[in-house]
Amino acid sequence: MEPGHALPSPDTFPAGVRTVGPAATFALGERAAALLRGGEVLLLHGGLGAGKTCFVQGLCHGLGVTAEVVSPTFTLVNTYEGRLRVHHLDFYRIGSAADLPDIGVPDLLDDVEDGAAIVVAEWPGPLVSALGALPCLEFLATTGADPDSRCWRLRGRPEPAAAWRALFDGGEGAC
Ligand SMILES: Nc1ncnc2c1ncn2[C@@H]1O[C@H](COP(=O)(O)OP(=O)(O)O)[C@@H](O)[C@H]1O
Ligand SMILES: [Mg+2]
Repeated sequence: MEPGHALPSPDTFPAGVRTVGPAATFALGERAAALLRGGEVLLLHGGLGAGKTCFVQGLCHGLGVTAEVVSPTFTLVNTYEGRLRVHHLDFYRIGSAADLPDIGVPDLLDDVEDGAAIVVAEWPGPLVSALGALPCLEFLATTGADPDSRCWRLRGRPEPAAAWRALFDGGEGAC
């Protein structure tokens, strides 16, 4: 993992929900889409292969995006039109927040604040400082002993609404 891509500790999140296999992560993304109203910033933390892009694919499907959703690792930003406009970002190759204006991040955040768009960012470290006081939902995906198992945790600023907390509450199988 490159410097600057430190992951938050799982201890700083409530217990999460387990997904077994990519279809389950996709389905979690679809259910998350149903809770989106527009104007949200979603920060997706997790190592390579944790399933961040898979989650975004489900999210976009749930928002009615028909275009193919592919990783923006090289393009940095992919924008999709669905029930809401989705700006999908990946900062893995971005060294610092100084680069954000070059990739149009202030304009994307303005679009989000207008309410008909969302930003969903993988490797979101450089974005955090640019958010200022803007609300955000933070997700952390971690791998476990089972190669197909992931644990998805959620926290937010302010505290996520009850429907969000319920979606990421693994109940008895919590991880
Ligand atoms: N429970 C799971 N959730 C998501 N992906 C999984 C899961 N189990 C196995 N995988 C595999 O892990 C990989 C996740 O890839 P991807 O979504 O691109 O991760 P990231 O964007 O976090 O780097 C895929 O190859 C997928 O098939
Ligand atoms: Mg990815």
